[in-house]
Amino acid sequence: MEETHTLDGRAVLLTGGGTGIGRATARRFAAAGADVLVVGRTAERLAEAAEQHPRIRAFVADVAAPDAPGSVVAAALDAFGRIDALVNNAAITRPAPLGEIDRKVAEEQLATNLLGPVFLTQRALPHLEPGATVVNVTSNPPYYGWPGNSVYGSTKVALDFLTHTWAVELAPRGIRVVSVAPGVTRTPVLHHAGFSDERIAAAADELLARIPLRRLAEPDEIAWWIVNAVRPEAGYLTGTVIRVDGGLGAGG
Ligand SMILES: NC(=O)c1ccc[n+]([C@@H]2O[C@H](COP(=O)([O-])OP(=O)(O)OC[C@H]3O[C@@H](n4cnc5c(N)ncnc54)[C@H](OP(=O)(O)O)[C@@H]3O)[C@@H](O)[C@H]2O)c1
Repeated sequence: MEETHTLDGRAVLLTGGGTGIGRATARRFAAAGADVLVVGRTAERLAEAAEQHPRIRAFVADVAAPDAPGSVVAAALDAFGRIDALVNNAAITRPAPLGEIDRKVAEEQLATNLLGPVFLTQRALPHLEPGATVVNVTSNPPYYGWPGNSVYGSTKVALDFLTHTWAVELAPRGIRVVSVAPGVTRTPVLHHAGFSDERIAAAADELLARIPLRRLAEPDEIAWWIVNAVRPEAGYLTGTVIRVDGGLGAGG
């Protein structure tokens, strides 16, 4: 594809930018000429993501905290004076079957994965001009249910619902809202959930058998879609879910 310069000077606010898909996305935006503010709870991870990338700046915040939207949006405006794209990527997964769901852990997932995007997007809204884009990073919960991961799956299904709804609400203002739903991607997400290497390897083997392409995604293969969904060339794309899943949903 021909390289375009349509992201030159665009200001991107990206949560969960210190590792995995978020880090790959921040670097891909920066390589495309955009300025990026990456947000996360761990300064070292953010610093690593920004290292040798002068267009990436870091801001430490917990998106689940009620005061985060105000401070995060203020930091983006301080850094760039504008917000052209908001990528709600930060999330946690804490798998548990129904009988073992802990209220505090469930609330943490809801606050991070669902209420975080709701109130960060709300806070950014007055600053979004026509042409701005919101990308919600969701997932591909099986339509028949997700045994052992119902709370996480629910947050992601709900986030897709927000995408559809906000796309309609915000279309008159020229603001697009899109979900990018990764398939199984090689990131530290399960390490962050406290899984052992052995348990992760076993889970990957089981999943691989259900992925028609027979491999996991690399973070940059998801990042490509997030970045391109924000480009003005994608201006007719809104209210939809881009599933980047190696065929999992079709063949699994
Ligand atoms: N990997 C997959 O197979 C897969 C599949 C489907 C969907 N996804 C989605 O893809 C997105 C990125 O996940 P990933 O796989 O790249 O996992 P990851 O490496 O764990 O990335 C998540 C990032 O979010 C940050 N984060 C978590 N809680 C936060 C909070 N309360 N406030 C601010 N930042 C927070 C984490 O950093 P700190 O802990 O330092 O804050 C981390 O850098 C998530 O939305 C995930 O649900 C991933």
